Amino acid sequence: MSREAKGGKNKAFLMPKPHSNQQEDRNIDSTLRPTAWDEYIGQEKIKHGLRVILDAAKKRKEAADHLLFSGPAGLGKTTLAYLVARDLGGIIRTTSGPAIEKTGDLAAILTNLTPNEILFIDEAHRINPMIEEVLYPAMEARKLHLVVGKGPSARTLSLDLPPFTLIAATTRENLLSQPLRSRFGATMRLGYYEPADIKKILERSAAILGIAADLDAVEILARASRGTPRVANRLLKRARDFAEVHGGGGPDGTAIDRTAALATLEMLEIDEAGLEPSDRRLLTTIIEKFNGGPVGINTLSAALAEDRGVIEDIYEPYLMTLGFLQRSSAGRVVLPAAYRHLKIKDRGELL
Ligand code: ADE
Repeated sequence: MSREAKGGKNKAFLMPKPHSNQQEDRNIDSTLRPTAWDEYIGQEKIKHGLRVILDAAKKRKEAADHLLFSGPAGLGKTTLAYLVARDLGGIIRTTSGPAIEKTGDLAAILTNLTPNEILFIDEAHRINPMIEEVLYPAMEARKLHLVVGKGPSARTLSLDLPPFTLIAATTRENLLSQPLRSRFGATMRLGYYEPADIKKILERSAAILGIAADLDAVEILARASRGTPRVANRLLKRARDFAEVHGGGGPDGTAIDRTAALATLEMLEIDEAGLEPSDRRLLTTIIEKFNGGPVGINTLSAALAEDRGVIEDIYEPYLMTLGFLQRSSAGRVVLPAAYRHLKIKDRGELL
């Protein structure tokens, strides 16, 4: 393969950016989703905690306590919910906060549950407060209170629900109301994966998809994966595309080698720490327009023309993990490690 073919000049082959590729992500997820505990790599404490809860519930022949999974997108919250359901030998019914529009929608879901079923609600921070009110007695006492009629003739009907386990997932635990949060028996907070675990996930995915990748390539892709399995799997597929189109290593010349992995990242404009153009723009905006911060989130959101929720949910958690950004009461501040990474001088000083 020629140098030029691998380089950043090849913009005609620019692929969609990682955050925007949701449908493909879902397809990748379903092929690669672990279906047994020993296939699920990392998050050891959470797996252990969950299995104690599940084993105890099975011993008592009861539905397991309601569970809240929180953490950044792409870390495997849905996968865990499926593993819990499988472990309990049960069925899982999935929905999401914004999909439950009316109390009647939730009533229909709850009254259709079979005993010990798992109800999985994704994006739980987007559950409407009126729906939450219906959830409380359902979670606490397995009761569904329905108001029928209007005005003075309105009455409340109370229905018994079968035993069930609610698993709620959220990327924004702080937006969940306290009454809802307090009704979960356990909260599992998923953190970014260690590079070693991401490497194992990449190797497992490569084996399932029949992709050849050498150790150097796996290391490079793992470091750029933001500690996130979903990102790792997406980069692996993009690197496979690249090696097939432009050539790579191995006996048939299509294996992902060091050169192909680096060229893939360059093509996607992802740097070696996993930062994308939008992450770099966030940091350089704070540095250039706000003298490195502190800058309030609303001001930053306006300066970037980016939704506040996207900044808080997607960009900031990873930048904070890298020690590139700090959230203080006065606002966002870019830290020295980010200046070094971006090779920018901090207020005229050499870093
Ligand atoms: N794919 C997504 N998350 C995973 C995990 N934790 N282990 C293995 N494969 C995964």
